[in-house]
Amino acid sequence: MLKETRSKLYCTGGVVLVLLLCVVVALIVNFSLDKPLTPTWSQSSAMVACVPRGGTVKQCEELGCIWRPISDDSPNCWFPEDSSQNGYGYEIKGDIQPTPIGKTMVLSRIPTTPLAYPESTPVEEVRLEVEYHDVNRLRLKFTDSKQARYEVSQHALDIRAPSTPPAADDMLYEVIYITQPQFGVKVIRKDTNATIFDTALPGFTFTDQYLQLTTRLNSSHVYGFGEHNHGRYKHDMNWRRWPIFSRGTGPKAEPLNLYGHQPFYMNIEKSGKANGVLLKNSNAMDIVLQPDPYPAISYQVIGGVLDFYIFLGPSPENVVEQYNMAIGYPVMPPYWSLGFQLCKWGYNGTAHVRDVLRRQREANIPQDVQYVDIDYTYEKLTFTYNRDGFRDLPKLVQELHDMGQKLILILDPGIGTDENVTSRAPPNNSYPALNDGVRQDVFIKNPNKTGYLTAEVWPGKVYFPDYTKPETTEWWTRCIEDFYVNQKVQYDALWLDMNEPKSFKSGSLTGSCDKNQWNNPPYLPKIEDYDKGHLYEGTICMDAVQDNWGQETVHYNVHSLYGHTMAMASYGVLRKLQPSKRPLVLTRSTFSGTGKYAVHWLGDNTSEWPQLAWSIIGMLEFNIFGIPYVGADICGFWGDTTEELCTRWMQVGAFYPFSRNHNAQNYPRVDGFIEQDPAVFGEPFVTRARDVLNTRYRLLPYLYTLFHYAHTTGSTVVRPLLHE
Ligand code: GLC
Repeated sequence: MLKETRSKLYCTGGVVLVLLLCVVVALIVNFSLDKPLTPTWSQSSAMVACVPRGGTVKQCEELGCIWRPISDDSPNCWFPEDSSQNGYGYEIKGDIQPTPIGKTMVLSRIPTTPLAYPESTPVEEVRLEVEYHDVNRLRLKFTDSKQARYEVSQHALDIRAPSTPPAADDMLYEVIYITQPQFGVKVIRKDTNATIFDTALPGFTFTDQYLQLTTRLNSSHVYGFGEHNHGRYKHDMNWRRWPIFSRGTGPKAEPLNLYGHQPFYMNIEKSGKANGVLLKNSNAMDIVLQPDPYPAISYQVIGGVLDFYIFLGPSPENVVEQYNMAIGYPVMPPYWSLGFQLCKWGYNGTAHVRDVLRRQREANIPQDVQYVDIDYTYEKLTFTYNRDGFRDLPKLVQELHDMGQKLILILDPGIGTDENVTSRAPPNNSYPALNDGVRQDVFIKNPNKTGYLTAEVWPGKVYFPDYTKPETTEWWTRCIEDFYVNQKVQYDALWLDMNEPKSFKSGSLTGSCDKNQWNNPPYLPKIEDYDKGHLYEGTICMDAVQDNWGQETVHYNVHSLYGHTMAMASYGVLRKLQPSKRPLVLTRSTFSGTGKYAVHWLGDNTSEWPQLAWSIIGMLEFNIFGIPYVGADICGFWGDTTEELCTRWMQVGAFYPFSRNHNAQNYPRVDGFIEQDPAVFGEPFVTRARDVLNTRYRLLPYLYTLFHYAHTTGSTVVRPLLHE
């Protein structure tokens, strides 16, 4: 595109999008100012928890730590600040050694350091590898010196290290090692002399199932971490605790872990320069934020290694670009997918869908994409369609195509196993997805590896495919091909759901999960339902077994990779199936790097006003997580919307990168949530919806161009003013 045209497009489109977003973000930030924190003791540095959450005065004293309750949610028991004698944590053993791209050193545990969870074996020798990847990127990897621990496989996320380091003079950073009273590492931005990452604090802990590291920040302007409903874009640093672990739960006011696992934040330094930090780790964790005057972040992680990638920007956009360059640039969406999209769970057949399509056309509502939800399946079996209401599904797809529209189909990972149902599945009274899957041994296994773990989703009893196994991708490819080619449902894109993975029955249907270190780890992050005392609520047993690309491991370690690996497999199939087209895969669960394969919607919201505001935060956050194609269910998913809320939501949602109106069926009610497609409301709704959608459509070339930049340079598509 000519430079001049491009800048014109930027001017018109940019002004509209940026202004709209700025106004809303400003409003939200204003409505939720920090509550002032008044500590009752004098504090001279960031504090580090000795017991991550809860604990008793007695336990705290026995550990030799200090009891200072702050709030219910924050730690009460702290490492003493003046640790001048022995230090708490690790000390350097031997010399710092050079490596081709950085430095390496062995840290040995200071034996007198108290351990909140003595049952979790301490790693006595930790290796720190420092790698200089680029002038603006470095890696700090803390691992056990034998390198035998679980870590995120390269198959899931491959961040390549260079073979030679950048020239030292060009590097924006330097790294300093502190040896007294305990080991710490600091990353300093050279030109401003700002310390941007600083672990020189007591309490660095590295045990088998509890790892803790606190880093001091340059300022308290922190953005990111997910997936949560944050309610505001700039974090409230007052000891807020955010659990990270994939969970099939929609946005609510509470600080809950939602669908995705995104341990990435951005910090705007006092100078206005920005840095970003990824913790490449797929285990459950808590993130604890600490306020001014000693802003800090504590990571409380229950497995894996502490593998940090630090990006020095210096602008916020540069940070996102560098992060995306590392994890993989976001997919380039097909142009049509920028059009308006319509969905509802609860269409009772193709006639219903045709009705909805017809009324949008009659009302002149621009609509590019129609969805069918699980209603189209035979008894909720993935890769089947029912011969009742949806008997002519292939014909519906053809009609849509004739009209220049597209169809997106939902696909759930759980493969139904109930023989009464599978033996009647169309077209041949059999269920090849299950039979072939068993033959190819693609499902997640029971803890003792005798048979497959049975969970419960829409079809009742299900097995979950193990997408960390190469054979599973082959099987998944055949299933998708069969549905597309043989059953002739020629959809245009796939929508992956329930892939946290979500189970209605927590654990397993064939018996409860054993009480053990995986299901009941020594430290349970404050995930949703943590009060039940286990990690598997809403999903499967943590000691279930997965292949992990030949390095067999427990579900505990790879749980949060489920949606990511399903998205990877599905993206590959679409590439194969439609080689001349750009694949579009919409996924509910995500991990760092999912944006290379798939896009995201913000999940099951409700038709309530606060949700409309929250969706903007979620959208901005996924733009810094490398998944810029994102939006919320317009007008709300659960509950009856109102005409006014739905009008306003259409008006905001017209500027979501992903603009889809979707709502739930009657579940659990029997009389159904009201329909909320734009045409159903009549005038004046229709005129308002049409007007704003027409504005969107006028801006599509601009939006498309932004996606081109996101895909080729890693920049954001929707960004807050602070990026400008
Ligand atoms: C899940 C999805 C939702 C979908 C429903 C039925 O709740 O998040 O979008 O409509 O399942 O498939």
